[in-house]
Amino acid sequence: MVYVTPGVDFLAKGFLILGAFVGTIITLNSSVAARAGYHIPTWMLLAGTTIAIPVLSTIYKMMENLKIGYPGDGLDEVMAKRGPVFNMRVLWSDLMFTASPEHIKAMLATDFQNYVKGERFHYNMESVLGTGVFNSDGTSVPFHRSITRPMFTRERISHFELFDRRASQVIDKLRERLREGYAVDFQDLMSRFTLDAATEFLFGNCVESLSAGLPYPYNATYVPPIKRTAKGDAANAFAHAFLEAQEVISVRERYGWVWPLAEIFKDKSYEPMKIVNSYIEPIVKEALEKKRNLPIREKGKEPSDGETLLDSLVRVTDDPVVLKDETLNIMIAGRDTTASTLTFIIYMLATVPNIMNRLREEILSKVGNSRRPDYDDIRDMKYLRAVINETLRLYPIVPFNVRESVNASTWKSDDPNQKPFFIPAGTKTAYSVFMMQRRTDLWGPDAEVIDPDRWLDERLKTYVSKNPFIFLPFNAGPRICLGQQFAYNEMSFMIIRLLQNFTSVELHPGSAPPEAHPPAVWAEAGGRKGIEKVFPKMHLTMYTNGGLWVKMTESDGTN
Ligand code: HEM
Repeated sequence: MVYVTPGVDFLAKGFLILGAFVGTIITLNSSVAARAGYHIPTWMLLAGTTIAIPVLSTIYKMMENLKIGYPGDGLDEVMAKRGPVFNMRVLWSDLMFTASPEHIKAMLATDFQNYVKGERFHYNMESVLGTGVFNSDGTSVPFHRSITRPMFTRERISHFELFDRRASQVIDKLRERLREGYAVDFQDLMSRFTLDAATEFLFGNCVESLSAGLPYPYNATYVPPIKRTAKGDAANAFAHAFLEAQEVISVRERYGWVWPLAEIFKDKSYEPMKIVNSYIEPIVKEALEKKRNLPIREKGKEPSDGETLLDSLVRVTDDPVVLKDETLNIMIAGRDTTASTLTFIIYMLATVPNIMNRLREEILSKVGNSRRPDYDDIRDMKYLRAVINETLRLYPIVPFNVRESVNASTWKSDDPNQKPFFIPAGTKTAYSVFMMQRRTDLWGPDAEVIDPDRWLDERLKTYVSKNPFIFLPFNAGPRICLGQQFAYNEMSFMIIRLLQNFTSVELHPGSAPPEAHPPAVWAEAGGRKGIEKVFPKMHLTMYTNGGLWVKMTESDGTN
């Protein structure tokens, strides 16, 4: 088969369209000349038409914002002038944007059938997500969700034995590095924790990225030689390739329909996916071979305790591509989301020590400084839940998202005196929970302040209970996150274990690389942007650029 890069494919199709466009202009011009008796030079018509076309500066500005901007920069100015819904119209295409709970509710729940991920999204994502749940639409969605759902029952998500093993490893690594006198990149540490937990939960075959060794600060004067092992190298290669593949598809989404032009010479996801596939494919093959020896599970019966997601999936299909895509999609869905949220929680605890102290008090009073927490302990820790929710409100890990309308519809205007917005069929509809969850008209005048108490005092009734659609870090409706409870458990478990072992945490900007520091101009801005001490950036999910470098104080075991 001839290999065609996405760029060449795009140009081939583009030339056909361009040819048709030029041909139409010349034909029209000749017919006008024949009837009206005068002739406009073709070059003038083409130039005029091209100049009338929206200029690339919008795209350029968006890319600049992505490089040095705060999430939502550019959009917040428009929102301040025109309200929470407007048409961004990027490169000849309508792009409706909203940060209004009513419209997001329509897209995700009440008018769900009318908003799909769409063909363009599938094309952009296909080389990485394949046919998995994230990249599915329409009638195939219930199938994808039903085959993975059995893994997310209460028993399965309370995987505390697995979390405990990995959390102990995290704490050992953290302690070891801090005792050497160095700060630790907490984001990197959490990415290793969630990668190891996810690969064990999904495949029963852990990548062991925690064993590969933590990075030292970029300016460390002495870096001891790292004991390299084949397993450690493979883990680092996998983690790196996995991240790169996700970055490639998120850049495609941002470039819009012209993205193939950035991939004229090669499909940028090809190399990283080769590494990712070389890890997953043998595991899938082995699972299929093992399937022959598995006892037949009764219909409707839940997977047994030791069963992994892959074990469960091989009972439904023999197709190695479906098996690989499905497990990889869940790994993408569950790994960075949880790692980044844990990172932003620690960022909050480091910047507001009162929250850290109060949270630690709750944890110690419930489970002491060494007992392993169980499901009921976590359910009873109200302040812990409030801290996690406050983090997900201010730093939702999927800050921006997009759907595409199937049929024409309308969105009610937030201003009752205005007419509704018309949404033509096939329109891209982008929405931002990041911007919605910081709106003062929805959350009160202190919306930009970190305050977990808003989840415990009368503000809960005033705002969220009245309209739950103002808080959507896991989305809503038929495609709500499948791993929501798993994530709450995993994050709660890790935070409890950390606070049992450490009494305080502080940021260590001196160890952070230059790209980790927020641009100096941010200090002139209002709101959180003006006081931010990290640089939040986005690929498919939000993360802290350059990592989160922290030092922590060990507990001496006496609280
Ligand atoms: C803090 C952690 C997490 C957050 C904030 C989060 C958020 C989200 C969001 C916003 C979506 C919707 C994406 C879209 O439709 O465009 C989603 C979907 C999904 N999430 Fe999560 N997630 C988290 C953790 C997890 C975990 C741990 C798992 C699994 C182990 C998981 C599995 C999934 C799956 C399978 C979907 C796709 C559902 C579908 O398309 O129908 N998530 N998640």
